[in-house]
Amino acid sequence: MNNSHQKNREYDKAPHLIFIGFMGSGKTSIGRGLSYKLKRAFCDTDKMIEEMEKMTVSEIFGQKGEKYFRGLETQVLRDIRSDLSPKIYSLGGGTPVQMQNQPLIKKCGTVVYLRISPEQVYERLKEDTKRPLLQCSDPLSKIKELIAVRGPAYERCADIIVDTGDTERDDVMKDVLRKLEKAGWNIPADTKEWMDS
Ligand code: S3P
Repeated sequence: MNNSHQKNREYDKAPHLIFIGFMGSGKTSIGRGLSYKLKRAFCDTDKMIEEMEKMTVSEIFGQKGEKYFRGLETQVLRDIRSDLSPKIYSLGGGTPVQMQNQPLIKKCGTVVYLRISPEQVYERLKEDTKRPLLQCSDPLSKIKELIAVRGPAYERCADIIVDTGDTERDDVMKDVLRKLEKAGWNIPADTKEWMDS
């Protein structure tokens, strides 16, 4: 690949930090925490969809169906792709699974996959009522089944993989920041101090 082609490809990427991973992996909590550390606005795509539709995700699934929701996810990704002001976005756990979304996600910026085991997801979400896909008689089997299919999709989209689950929130944030720094990101001086504390 010659230099100008390389440059164009870089220019082709939006400047965001994108979190992907299964439900309960901590995308929103880590993304929101890092918005202070990196001094960037944070947005959650489920919230963006709820605001667009004036309905909760559960209501959209119940009244309009999962296929309709998946269409909205792709629409939101296109908006993120064309937003040139650097932000942190957390994507819904199913967004990377649709094949057509994968190249789009990669073009949105640096993609961090928060990896978690099915058992840890179950522990975190066993009382949850807001995830329509997990409102079933055997949520642990469902989680295992979905992670088996989704794991490779998450890995295909990821620039950085961080294991989460039994790690403290601050330590997960520090792990993400160290990997971003290694990838050439400029980390604010006060955040660097915090990383070393
Ligand atoms: C979904 C994950 C949810 C939400 C919807 C579907 C999925 O988002 O988009 O319930 O298919 O994994 P979170 O990953 O933020 O929980």
